[in-house]
Amino acid sequence: MSERVYIFDTTLRDGEQSPGATMNLDEKIRMARQLETLGVDIIEAGFPIASQGDFESVRAIANAVGDVQVAGLCRSVVKDIDRCWEAVKVAKNPRIHTFLATSPIHMEHKLGKTPEQVLVMADAAVRHAAQYTTNVEFSAEDASRSDWDFLVKVTETAISAGATTINIPDTVGYTQPHEFHELIKYLMDNVSNVDKAVISVHCHNDLGLAVANTLAAIRAGARQAEVTVSGIGERAGNAALEEVVMAMNTRKDQYPYETGINTHELFPSCRRLSQIIGQPIPPYKAIVGPNAFAHESGVHQDGVIKNRLTYEIMTPESIGRAGNEIVIGKHSGSHAIRKKVEQLGYSLDDAQLGVLFNAVKELADKKEQVFDEDVEALILEKVFRRRDKFRLADMSVFSGAGEVPPHAAMVLEFGEPGVDADVRTVSEFGEGCVDAVFKSIYSLVGVTPRLVRYSVNAVTEGSDALAGVAVRIEHDGVSAVGRANDADVVKASALAMVNALNRMEKAKEER
Ligand code: KIV
Ligand code: ZN
Repeated sequence: MSERVYIFDTTLRDGEQSPGATMNLDEKIRMARQLETLGVDIIEAGFPIASQGDFESVRAIANAVGDVQVAGLCRSVVKDIDRCWEAVKVAKNPRIHTFLATSPIHMEHKLGKTPEQVLVMADAAVRHAAQYTTNVEFSAEDASRSDWDFLVKVTETAISAGATTINIPDTVGYTQPHEFHELIKYLMDNVSNVDKAVISVHCHNDLGLAVANTLAAIRAGARQAEVTVSGIGERAGNAALEEVVMAMNTRKDQYPYETGINTHELFPSCRRLSQIIGQPIPPYKAIVGPNAFAHESGVHQDGVIKNRLTYEIMTPESIGRAGNEIVIGKHSGSHAIRKKVEQLGYSLDDAQLGVLFNAVKELADKKEQVFDEDVEALILEKVFRRRDKFRLADMSVFSGAGEVPPHAAMVLEFGEPGVDADVRTVSEFGEGCVDAVFKSIYSLVGVTPRLVRYSVNAVTEGSDALAGVAVRIEHDGVSAVGRANDADVVKASALAMVNALNRMEKAKEER
């Protein structure tokens, strides 16, 4: 048996700190379930002391998943650790992850503490956490800019106090692969009780080296990698889970280690995250980007046709990328619908699947192709009975190059469809058609959110292509993503905004 490298996923904590990547409770739970399917060993679910919302979502995730370990982050102070334990203790396998800065600049300017005081704090924090559980992780924040011998002392102290994982973060993305390798090796060689803990690394991507540093550390003896799906995270992000795992899988000669990851779930995981946060996977993204397996040059195409291995070091199938997209139509059977529900991150029992199956068939009779958004809307409406508060009933848009500014007339239907529906109409000018449409919708709904992101992608090819629009909005401390596909970009934009505003209403009600 080869040695195991544990995969610690922090998409829901460090990843969520990425601008525009905030997720609501439902979305976090769907992502956590996907991470469990992917086979990560530990899910870092959040920072429970940060807010009541963070606390609730860590607890909800801890409740929602099975055997996977669930970690909560906390500073090295008693009240943080207590709060963290309150949130994670409902998990089958809870972990307390406590951190304290160890670099001269952080100790002096952030903490106002001497190295001796930091040692005392680390010892006390880990001892306090260890009263609750034996699964305690200690992180030496800004470790890569810390004095190596001081780091040895901190690591020994934390292990003696009961930490079973010691994390060495490159908090500011400063270190270089050869240097980080030496640091980890130094710790492996000089920490007297290093055999009593797993050494972990957590690398940020400020210089584009997060994955390289993580891999260098694994070669030096680290056996836990802290990563995020698609590498999302603070500033330039964290080490990308799919890159670290596929580097280890593709180069077993360099990394003769096992992980618990089912690589076929890598692409579905990145796609799930992208759908949830409303950010498309960038075209050039390694492993999972739309272009990652596209061979454009004639020489490459010729080589790949003769033998794929001439230009492909791994296959799209191995990361779950080919033949995985289930298209729902009127001939889809219950098996396909069950799979689609799983892909969307919902778990329904047989009775609920029956209700959904009938609803999908009914819709497919009227509509040639049923999109993911349609299935999701049916799950919420027919299974969970959460009907949208308002729907797009009609719209007309004027766009010109002359004197008259672009304007839109929008008709929204509120309440129960049919006789009781309240139909409201408004018309607004805008800088362009989409602006006029959004202003009209805001005026009808009575909310003007901040538009954090608006993206349009061609889902199919040609000028009649389906446009996939994603919007992310924020209002009153709540954010929501809305998505829609339509052959008309402006209509897709209107539908996506209506979708986002409905989700925001639901999130506010939940709050
Ligand atoms: O980057 C960092 O140092 C962190 C720690 C809290 C682990 O995120
Ligand atoms: Zn971090």
